[in-house]
Formats: sequence, C-alpha cells, structure tokens
Amino acid sequence: MNRKKIVAGNWKMNGLLNEATVLSQEVVNGVEELNSKEKLNDICKVILCPPFTLLYKVKEYLSNSGVALGAQDMHCEKKGAHTGDVSPLMLKDAGCSYVILGHSERRTDHFETNKVVAQKAQAAYENGLTAIICIGETQQQRENGQTIDVCVNQIMESVPENANADNTIIAYEPIWAIGTGKTPTCDDVEEVHAAIRHALIQKMGKENADKISLLYGGSVKPSNAKEFLSLADVDGALVGGASLNAQDFLAIIKSVL
Ligand code: 13P
Repeated sequence: MNRKKIVAGNWKMNGLLNEATVLSQEVVNGVEELNSKEKLNDICKVILCPPFTLLYKVKEYLSNSGVALGAQDMHCEKKGAHTGDVSPLMLKDAGCSYVILGHSERRTDHFETNKVVAQKAQAAYENGLTAIICIGETQQQRENGQTIDVCVNQIMESVPENANADNTIIAYEPIWAIGTGKTPTCDDVEEVHAAIRHALIQKMGKENADKISLLYGGSVKPSNAKEFLSLADVDGALVGGASLNAQDFLAIIKSVL
C-alpha cells in the first residue's frame, strides 16, 4: 500500500505571537523550497498544530504552501455552555483541517478516556476535520509486557466504527518516549504498528484499514527521523520538541525524500 508520508508538528503549549510568526514563516519557506526542488507535496503532507491562540495567525502564513493547519484538542459539541473549551466548528472557522485527539498529555492532565476520545473523533468527522488519534503505553505497561494489549485496546475503544483514511490518522506515541530523548527500537515500533494495523483490520476490514496512515511520535529528531520513517508501516511522524525549531523540523521533513 502506497500511503503518502505525513510529518506533523505538535507545538503543545508553546509559542507566542512573535515566535510563531517567525517559526511558521521559516517552515513554510523551507517547505516551498522542497516543493519546487523535490516535489515534496507529492510525497509528504506537512501539518502544523499550534496552540489555539495562534491558529488564525499561523493560517495566514500557510496560505498556498500546501502546509495544513491542525489543532491539539477540541470539545465534542458544536457550541454551548462549556467555558474554556473550543468546538470543532471553531477549529474549521480558524482554518484547521486536522485535530490531534487523545494525546497522552490530555489523557493524563484531563483524564480523557478512550470513550471521550472516540466521541471527539466522531464530532471531528461530523464537522469535516481529520482526527489524529494518539495512543501509546506507559513505561510500566511496557515493562510488564502489556504494550500490545494496551495499544490494541486503545485502538478498539478510541477509534470510531466509521473511521476511514480520509477522516483518521493514528499516532503511536509511547508515553515514556515523549520529551525524554528515549526511543523504542525499530523492531519495537514495527511490532506495535503491525498490531495497530491488525486491530484496524478487525475493526473496519482490510481495504479500509490498509489506507489509514500510522505515525510514530516520541523524541523524533533529525538524527533518528530517517530510521523511523523508513520502517515498514510507519507513514510519518508526530513531532513535539523538534517542531519548535524550523531547521530541525525541516530536517525531519527532508528525511522522507
Ligand atoms: P516529543 O517529540 O517532544 O517527544 O513529543 C512527542 C509528542 O508528544 C508529539 O505529540
């Protein structure tokens, strides 16, 4: 199955207006150069996921570059009395095409369950957003040999029945690898991605499941990106820290070429 690569930058709770302006401009310039020299757009989709406050501003810089905009979370209702929340309609309005859902930091900080993640994903679909659904095991679960069971269960419960390649991307992010500089081995990543693919096949049938992109996330850097991105069944990367530096993020993007 020939799936296009995806490199998404999750800025998390980082970025003020001035920094975001410089960062998004540098990324867009780099991507435009790669488009004209190497036809990057044919091979890889680049997505930037800044915090809510910067969505509108970053969108202005992305205009015709082919770089897409994503948010980092959303409420499942279109509008209403939910102080502090942001709705799928608002994300569409701000120019988003993607939304990260079920990131481990949301699951930990805001007690989001698989059920909540599935509800949000369903709301994303209904509002024309593609959900980047995150899953991954803790250090303890890995040590206990539960990685595959935990990840498969998260897929079964967090991914709605009507998921397909147009509305869903899966990101495998081992929690212990996020922001730590530690990474799983290539064999570990291949093993989990194969299990995810198998779970998706059970859920939606082979034809649909084979089209869904599976990203790896957790301490992806310019120095290890090529290794991960060339693995079987790794269709791209969800990048945290390294996406805050344009040169590093562009180096990760270049590793798909
Ligand atoms: P780091 O790349 O900083 O480890 O973060 C990964 C992540 O959580 C992306 O969503």
